[in-house]
Amino acid sequence: MISGIRGTRDILPSEIGRWQHVERVAADVCARYGYCEVRTPVIEREDLFAKGTGESTDIVQKEMYAFTDKGGDRITLRPEATPSMVRAFVEHSLEQDLLFAKLYSLGPMFRYERPQKGRYRQFHQLDVEVFGLADPAIDGEVIDLAVTFVEELDIASAELVINSVGCGDCRPGYSAVLLEALGSRLPELCGDCQRRASTNPLRIFDCKVPADQPLIDGLPKSENFLCEACRDHFEEVKRHLEIYGHQYRVSHRLVRGLDYYTRTTFEIIGSSLGAQNALLGGGRYDHLVKQLGGPDRPGIGFAAGLERLVLELPDEKGSSGPADVFVVAFGQSTWSEARVLARDLRRAGFRTLIDYGERSSKSQMKRANRSNVQRMLILGEDELASNKVTIKEMETGHQETLPRDEVIGYLALHCQGVTL
Ligand code: HAM
Repeated sequence: MISGIRGTRDILPSEIGRWQHVERVAADVCARYGYCEVRTPVIEREDLFAKGTGESTDIVQKEMYAFTDKGGDRITLRPEATPSMVRAFVEHSLEQDLLFAKLYSLGPMFRYERPQKGRYRQFHQLDVEVFGLADPAIDGEVIDLAVTFVEELDIASAELVINSVGCGDCRPGYSAVLLEALGSRLPELCGDCQRRASTNPLRIFDCKVPADQPLIDGLPKSENFLCEACRDHFEEVKRHLEIYGHQYRVSHRLVRGLDYYTRTTFEIIGSSLGAQNALLGGGRYDHLVKQLGGPDRPGIGFAAGLERLVLELPDEKGSSGPADVFVVAFGQSTWSEARVLARDLRRAGFRTLIDYGERSSKSQMKRANRSNVQRMLILGEDELASNKVTIKEMETGHQETLPRDEVIGYLALHCQGVTL
């Protein structure tokens, strides 16, 4: 037996309803906020992420599934969607086709990380991006979309955390302030922090090593070192969140693990996932489009981890059984008509099961019981002769016989969640 790869998962029939629910809500919320779906390939040039996600990030340094293909090109499975979305936006000049360049995508990403609950090597993201808008109102709207998405999934007690990581004008000064504050104590921090101190000192705030925390907690906060333009932008973003009535916490430690962020960063944190508790994260990236060869356009977006959302979903969501009705052929002569009845119900929009192998009515009933359907439709010889069908409600045991042409009307009234 050849098993699946560590850190990858099969999504099985027992879970698929919950996945489909999350994907449906994602697509629906994005459409309501004016986003268009795009689908980009899972393989890209390795350079796209080295330049986009950033050479100094863990993703590029340690986690990419990169290889040389048979033509000699360096290729990688995408570790995140943002650089791919930027590439597609630039390559197809999408800003000329769209009133607002608001795009979303759903699909698998790949990172060679140490697997644990909520962290996998193949995982799925809803990725949302907007290009060409510098107005802090769009930061507010993107965060509002993220909050609405989580709320519509009925995920309780999620917390919105925001920060500003400044821009090319104020960040170098702040980085210098951090290094100065650490001074001779830098060697007390872990090896990763020491590496970060030379590549991107802000990233020290990402450190999870318990022994490092007292020193890191005492470091100066970014909010006090923003330039005027970044401070104004951050104030406006907060004002917009207040307009929408969203509760949030400002954390100067929210620096995010990707290189492209400028100004706004945000995450929504779940309550029951332990260490891997970020349900989604994102921020503004005002130079990435240009950096990847496109026009000088700002960008902002976020990505949500679908595995984590599915884990946090309330139990009852997406748990409806695979079918609405089970058609039982009661007596050998009724099979043909039973199959036509099942076909007609399927065409009318009902999720319908029927048995195979001309099994006895007793074993069909047993299967119907096991299949968790809401009702059984029984077609016996009497029903066939009078052009009727008997309907049995599984929950109450209530049974009634109806003319064949009234069956669809009855089901439309009684089946939950069916739209005709
Ligand atoms: P990220 O923080 O790397 O950001 O990932 C976003 C979300 O993807 C995380 O909050 C988490 O829910 C999920 N995620 C990340 N890694 C894993 C994993 N190994 N297993 C399961 N879930 C995971 C980005 O990817 C940026 N592209 C977000 C963005 C879009 N920023 C601007 N636009």
